[in-house]
Amino acid sequence: MSQTAFDPKDFRRALSQFPTGVTVITTLDAEGNPVGVTASSFNSVSMDPILVLWSIDKGAHSLSAFENAENFAVNVLGKDQVSTSNNFASRGEDKFANAAYSAGLGGSPILDEYAAQFECKTWATYDGGDHLILVGEVINYRYNDSVEPLVFARGSYAVSAQHPEMVKASSPCEKTAAEDNFVGDYLLYLLRGAYQSFSADLYPKLKQECGINPEEWRIMARMISCTESKISDLTEIVMQPEVALRQSADWMVEKGLVEFIDNETLKLTAQGTETATKMQALAIKEEAALLAQMPADQAEHLKANLKTLIEKLG
Ligand SMILES: Cc1cc2nc3c(=O)[nH]c(=O)nc-3n(C[C@H](O)[C@H](O)[C@H](O)COP(=O)(O)O)c2cc1C
Repeated sequence: MSQTAFDPKDFRRALSQFPTGVTVITTLDAEGNPVGVTASSFNSVSMDPILVLWSIDKGAHSLSAFENAENFAVNVLGKDQVSTSNNFASRGEDKFANAAYSAGLGGSPILDEYAAQFECKTWATYDGGDHLILVGEVINYRYNDSVEPLVFARGSYAVSAQHPEMVKASSPCEKTAAEDNFVGDYLLYLLRGAYQSFSADLYPKLKQECGINPEEWRIMARMISCTESKISDLTEIVMQPEVALRQSADWMVEKGLVEFIDNETLKLTAQGTETATKMQALAIKEEAALLAQMPADQAEHLKANLKTLIEKLG
């Protein structure tokens, strides 16, 4: 067996720079019980015949079910299905207890909610090191194009957004008055444009001056007020599945920013508190510099109005 000199954690970080969607892949086991796992390794393979693939960890509980299955279904999750993803990423519990589904091809469960679904006949399986690669021939498919897909990037759940260049490109063509420029005047574009430009400015400074990346920033920002935080609380706040959050946490332990006080609880170290304070000061300074571009009362109103909007939108 070949042995690489790669640091596995660092290698996973490199891989996490490749964003994917999130799927729940389902089948029935030999006893006819529904089985499902969260998987981001799904991809298309061939148009003739129509083939897709994914890979399952050989250590997964459901390996034998998928290894022997004649059919499986790929449920591509929408952006509101983070809890479904977390549920099917857990081990051994009755994952279908809280899932609304019906029987699809060969009985494989198809979830009521989805961004897309592919019902497959197992076409081939291949050995893939510590994973088994499953190739399926797509027999049926359907999709909801009003549902935005859930994205998984850098260990965090995310949503797909139009590229920031889109906001710049939407500046008026011949007409210049704001009322003649629908896109440049529409609230959704304005909010997105402001978010993209501010974060594009802030994140590199956080990295340069405090040595932290956006995922660490989200964890640290929470821990400024809760210096001891449960992993289960952090997963919801920073939108990382538990396995990815633990990887981020291990990384932060190595950097001396946090420590585990038990398996479930993270605490800011003295060095972490110092970094968090520096990070917070930098973030506040950047916010102040941005808001200083308008009169103080307008800046105050802007934040108050945004809070009202968020509250009203639920
Ligand atoms: C976003 C995300 C993507 C995942 N992708 C895969 C994958 O492609 N293959 C895999 O075997 N496990 C993947 N996992 C981990 C499994 O979902 C997890 O190990 C699950 O517990 C397996 O279930 P089982 O042990 O009951 O079979 C992923 C987890 C998450 C949160």
